[in-house]
Amino acid sequence: MGTVSIAIDGPAGAGKSTIAKIVAKRMNIHYLDTGAMYRAVALKALEKGLDCKDPAQIIPMLSMTNLSIFYHQDQQHVYLDGKDVTDLIRFPRVSAAASDIAVIPEVRMMLVKIQRELAQRYSLVIDGRDIGTFVLPNADKKFYLTATLEERARRRWLEMQDKGYNTDFEEIKRDLEKRDLNDSNRAFAPLRKAEDAILIDTTGKTIEQVVDEVCSHLAGVLDLDKR
Ligand code: DC
Repeated sequence: MGTVSIAIDGPAGAGKSTIAKIVAKRMNIHYLDTGAMYRAVALKALEKGLDCKDPAQIIPMLSMTNLSIFYHQDQQHVYLDGKDVTDLIRFPRVSAAASDIAVIPEVRMMLVKIQRELAQRYSLVIDGRDIGTFVLPNADKKFYLTATLEERARRRWLEMQDKGYNTDFEEIKRDLEKRDLNDSNRAFAPLRKAEDAILIDTTGKTIEQVVDEVCSHLAGVLDLDKR
């Protein structure tokens, strides 16, 4: 029996993970956050004091890096060299480092291999930047979520406020813009909408509206009874 893959790509802060989590729950399948994997590799490099932009420093580290994904009570956990780093990878400095390390093709190939293996084993809603274009070009359904920079920055700012961090809105906006440019302009598997992806602009829409829009395109996907 095959598995079902739903790909959700788009820039940072477009709502991918929020939407993907809910859709996965509705479909009763797992959610895979691929950004967490880039973040974990970046965290290791930062902890070792390496420069995430320098392939000569990063590539030798990869063969000594053990990354695995586990699900505990429906939550994805990322283990880096045997340690659960799920919370540590959320810090802003890790976001920037992840975007830098994600430029290196060797890093991408190591993580893409794990992503493809997981997608073969499990039905997934999988979010990232290159899922529909590179990781799973034959995904059952592809979505590209976007929103204006202003709205994405506002969401990130609110998220940080909720977590008790007092951050500067303009700084968040600058960081997002920089990361999007970096993710879109890299040579290997950049952030790009797949031709056959359904484009959803989430600006001004509630989470529920976006979930409904996504799900309206999924009728029939699970009916394929491929699981
Ligand atoms: O989705 P996120 O913000 O957690 O991702 C962090 C960084 O990882 C993002 O700026 C670019 C990189 N990334 C990537 O290059 N490809 C993916 N499939 C997912 C993330």
